[in-house]
Amino acid sequence: MTEPFFTLRLDDDGVRILDQRCLPEAERYLLLRSAEEVARAIEDMAVRGAPAIGVAAAMGVAVELARSSDAELEAGLERACRRLAATRPTAVNLSWALTRVRERLAARIEAGVDPEALRREAREFARTLHAEDVATCRAIGEHGAPLVPEHARLLTHCNAGGLATAGYGTALGVVRSAAREGRIERVLAAETRPFLQGARLTTWELDRDGIPVTLITDSMPGSLMRAGEIDLVVVGADRIAANGDVANKIGTYPLALLAEFHGIPFYVAAPLSTVDLEMPDGDAIPIEQRDPAEVTCFAGRRISAPGVPALHPAFDVTPAAQVTAIITEAGVVRAPLAAGLRRQKSA
Ligand code: MRU
Repeated sequence: MTEPFFTLRLDDDGVRILDQRCLPEAERYLLLRSAEEVARAIEDMAVRGAPAIGVAAAMGVAVELARSSDAELEAGLERACRRLAATRPTAVNLSWALTRVRERLAARIEAGVDPEALRREAREFARTLHAEDVATCRAIGEHGAPLVPEHARLLTHCNAGGLATAGYGTALGVVRSAAREGRIERVLAAETRPFLQGARLTTWELDRDGIPVTLITDSMPGSLMRAGEIDLVVVGADRIAANGDVANKIGTYPLALLAEFHGIPFYVAAPLSTVDLEMPDGDAIPIEQRDPAEVTCFAGRRISAPGVPALHPAFDVTPAAQVTAIITEAGVVRAPLAAGLRRQKSA
């Protein structure tokens, strides 16, 4: 019997996060007691995935206020929000969560709330965001499951699971709900070079749940689609522009093109907090450039000739035209995506 895991949790002594850098070898939890420690955990990918880093940031603000003196509360709030917002640029869930936290707490400070009450409200609000995210993922799963055919062989990329959210997952939420209805024959997890979220995290998470999963390299989907061995693709998203363009883990865009070429549906599962109506299209989405050492090294060992540069954009943009539908907690949005997303966001 495997022990249940949690991705992140706000305890009275700090933020506990499952250190995803250690998976699948070890399940090790970190205890983070300041906004700076949470910010580093986000930058170093100990906690990762768009919704999870948004919730982690809200928890980071709560622990920062817990250690700030009464006189320092307002400055502590501003400093924590600024530091946490600067950790990773692509996932809009981070600034979405921080804006909500900041506006709410700044209004309470303005209203002259007692410092202890402010600290308590910061904790409660972070826990509310956590609970909301789990409920949102479950709703995404319920809306997405009917799109999964019987005996489905489903391809996913990166990890958009319980590990990337407060729990249950977005793309893997769809998988979980469809699996409960007996419709998943097999999930194909693309390894997701260079950080290997597919190989290390998606296989671990699905295997623990007893959902059949097979690891493939990032170079295999084309020939598997040609051979008729993939029925649908479901991925998550870090930011969806107003026109429906989708930023997600690097390698998503070629999967969408392959799926279109082979007549296979390509679905994006994401909460409405990932939809950024202020971004007109995908070209405006900031793409995180990570340390090239993540590409030039593998498992701590250099794999390229010394001195040769490497590129490392962490995300790519899939044009709306290649997206069959976007699954949110409010339902399934089909083309024209722009109108459907606007309708859901304003409901
Ligand atoms: O760099 P990561 O591991 O944070 O990237 C994660 C992804 O690209 C996920 O697909 C995305 O955040 C959606 S998570 C529900």
